[in-house]
Amino acid sequence: MTRSIDVIFSPDLLPFACLQGKSVVVIDILRATTTITFAIANGATSIQPVLTPEQAFAIRQEQSGILIGGERHGKPVTGFNLGNSPSEYQRSVVFGKSIVITTTNGTRTMHACVSADWLFIGSFLNLGSLIRVLDQTNNHVAFVCSGREGQFCTEDALFAGACVNIFCQIDNEVCLTDSAKTAQLLFQANHQRVFESIRNSDHGRYLASIGLESDLEFCSLVDLVDVVPVMIGDCISLCDAF
Ligand code: MLT
Repeated sequence: MTRSIDVIFSPDLLPFACLQGKSVVVIDILRATTTITFAIANGATSIQPVLTPEQAFAIRQEQSGILIGGERHGKPVTGFNLGNSPSEYQRSVVFGKSIVITTTNGTRTMHACVSADWLFIGSFLNLGSLIRVLDQTNNHVAFVCSGREGQFCTEDALFAGACVNIFCQIDNEVCLTDSAKTAQLLFQANHQRVFESIRNSDHGRYLASIGLESDLEFCSLVDLVDVVPVMIGDCISLCDAF
């Protein structure tokens, strides 16, 4: 099969895309998918993305022992257990826990991609493992960037381009859409300065302005963990199917 690879630069473009039958990767490098990947690597048993803080509070009210995390405007939500800095989700905090998370962009995108055949969570932290699993699904692939309030964001497109670039190295029959080719060109032009590209992005500069600069370097770490989170139904857990 000639595998097609597409990159969707904003969830607002999803109405013009078809995800059915595809292996889809949701990307929100700053910071939801990086956070979720690190939490799963540290032993969180399940992570439920929800659309509003009110939903997270209601679920914690019903289920004792769960943690609620996330952000609005990049800052932790008052009353939550955790914010959206990946480094908060250490093993000592999340091992064996169920987590409910809501963020401005990433969790909304996850809910918008539920028609996919497989719905994976991607970040620089699990780049290599993600590609290995995607390759084994033997499906067409779509990378969906969460962007920033509907706008294109460099960091998500850069990661999508990194994935496209690797796929072109392991499979010489891939068919790339224009957006996939563009993402690959973005990565090829910046592959030696991933951290600087993230630091200089719109959202990277905003996070630094509110005291979260340390998240930027963390979110640029490549292959820190060897896990692939997968969303089945309304929950994310460790993919052990491949
Ligand atoms: C998100 O992760 O959805 C947002 O991009 C915002 C953030 O975490 O700063």
